Amino acid sequence: CSTRFYDFKVQSMRITKLCNTRNIVTVNRIFPGPVIYAQEDDRIIVKITNETPYNTTIHWHGIRQRLSCWFDGPSYITQCPIQAGQSFTYEFTMVQQKGTFFWHAHVSWLRATVYGAFVVYPKTGVPFPFKDPYEEHIIILGEYWNQDVVELELNTTASGGSPPVADAYTINGHPGPNYNCSNNDVYKIDVVPGKTYLLRLINAGLNSENFFAIANHKLTIVEADAEYTKPFTTDRVMLGPGQTINVLVTADQPIEKYSMAMGPYSSAKGAAFQNILAIAHFQYSGAVTNSVFLPAQLPRVGDNLAVKTVMDGLRSLNKVNVPKEIDTNLFITIGLNVQRCHSKTPKQNCQGLNNGVMAASMNNISFIKPRISLLEAYYRKINGSFTDDFPGVPIEYYDFVNGAPNNIPNNTQSLNGTRVMVLEYGTRVQLILQDTGTVTTENHPIHLHGFSFYVVGYGSGNYDPQTANFNLVDPPYMNTIGVPVGGWTAIRFVSDNPGVWFMHCHLDVHQSWGLGTAFIVKNGKGNLETLPHPPADLPRC
Ligand code: C2O
Repeated sequence: CSTRFYDFKVQSMRITKLCNTRNIVTVNRIFPGPVIYAQEDDRIIVKITNETPYNTTIHWHGIRQRLSCWFDGPSYITQCPIQAGQSFTYEFTMVQQKGTFFWHAHVSWLRATVYGAFVVYPKTGVPFPFKDPYEEHIIILGEYWNQDVVELELNTTASGGSPPVADAYTINGHPGPNYNCSNNDVYKIDVVPGKTYLLRLINAGLNSENFFAIANHKLTIVEADAEYTKPFTTDRVMLGPGQTINVLVTADQPIEKYSMAMGPYSSAKGAAFQNILAIAHFQYSGAVTNSVFLPAQLPRVGDNLAVKTVMDGLRSLNKVNVPKEIDTNLFITIGLNVQRCHSKTPKQNCQGLNNGVMAASMNNISFIKPRISLLEAYYRKINGSFTDDFPGVPIEYYDFVNGAPNNIPNNTQSLNGTRVMVLEYGTRVQLILQDTGTVTTENHPIHLHGFSFYVVGYGSGNYDPQTANFNLVDPPYMNTIGVPVGGWTAIRFVSDNPGVWFMHCHLDVHQSWGLGTAFIVKNGKGNLETLPHPPADLPRC
């Protein structure tokens, strides 16, 4: 294996989109940012230089950072942000990992424009478990905002009200012809009739889970979250932010120009969303370029069945190593709630439901980011920035899925806190993630740093151990999982990677409202099982 060096300059770039010219933050003035290419087991070294006035960090989404926790990237979890004018070099190894990943900023809402693909091939001589595609393409789903996204986050948290809706959905940064001034701002793939293509789909959106489809063409899923799956053929896929899915598509239709479409799933009742689809083109060579192309059909907004169908189709291809026995079983509610305003809350913050402040929580704790990183506080034994008493069950127990939006009981409030859970090295953990419904139920894409986990079960309604069905034979091995709206998901992993690992909703607005927590995984016994020392250039807060 080899070492791959990349030089990332985080910079402002002038861009014109949707009839609007403004500055966005990107890497190396490319949007979407540069692609990292590597092979399994390679060493990756990326020097980040921050040439913007904003704080930044980069997270390598889905890369497990085996014994390299310091380079994981979430701000105030494993590091302080890289401040204006400073730099930091991330160094890690792709230990037994390959497939489609992506990198993104992990501070404020900067990842709205600071993202790019991260493609890792199998080792030399190791084939894909399917026939080599004729060509491959990266397809990144995104959301574009005319406003400064750092301000947008501040306004959203300060106003305490509903999340703002993106100005456009995008495919590889292009909104496509449905949007104003975007007739030529269209991403296009040229295909040769009869050939099979590998599409690496990534949802880099901020706040929207999205469907994707190509008119008249079947998609065969072969990989999800950078792990091979049994081939599963479908008309469309759904990706939560943070998820990646590889599909094969064969150009086996009449020679034409077809549309590829991306649009919202939007599982929460009454939630606002961008009501226009992002369109890209899938164009056969020989097609008349101005011929009317066939529009792609997406499921309707809120189509839970379409989402379940995709989920049911995800099965690990390779032999799995699911923990059969469990040492620690945690029940974690996830959901939106309202914190009541009191005399000290500024008036403008009370624009949530029933004049409260919108909040989100796990087990009714809204996660507040500390002032120095959790990892540094833990490593240097600095007191006062977190407590290790994250509750293993909800601090108040209510009927999860039957919350009444207009008649909020007293227990819809969450407590603020920076409360983490400590795991001994090698603990076999099961998490039951239960969506709650005190404000509205919603599908939440929950992401765990530092691990992949087996998705052993999921269902609608309240989790009931008597009736829950578990798959220990071929469950998918994921890093981000959409917990069904008003339902539950069970995941399992072994805590064999020392460090501090964030777990949060990958809808950024929910993360800002506190939907997260962190695990501290203690050292094991051998040298190979202990947290390394921090790098010399680790940013200071
Ligand atoms: Cu892709 Cu904590 O994030």
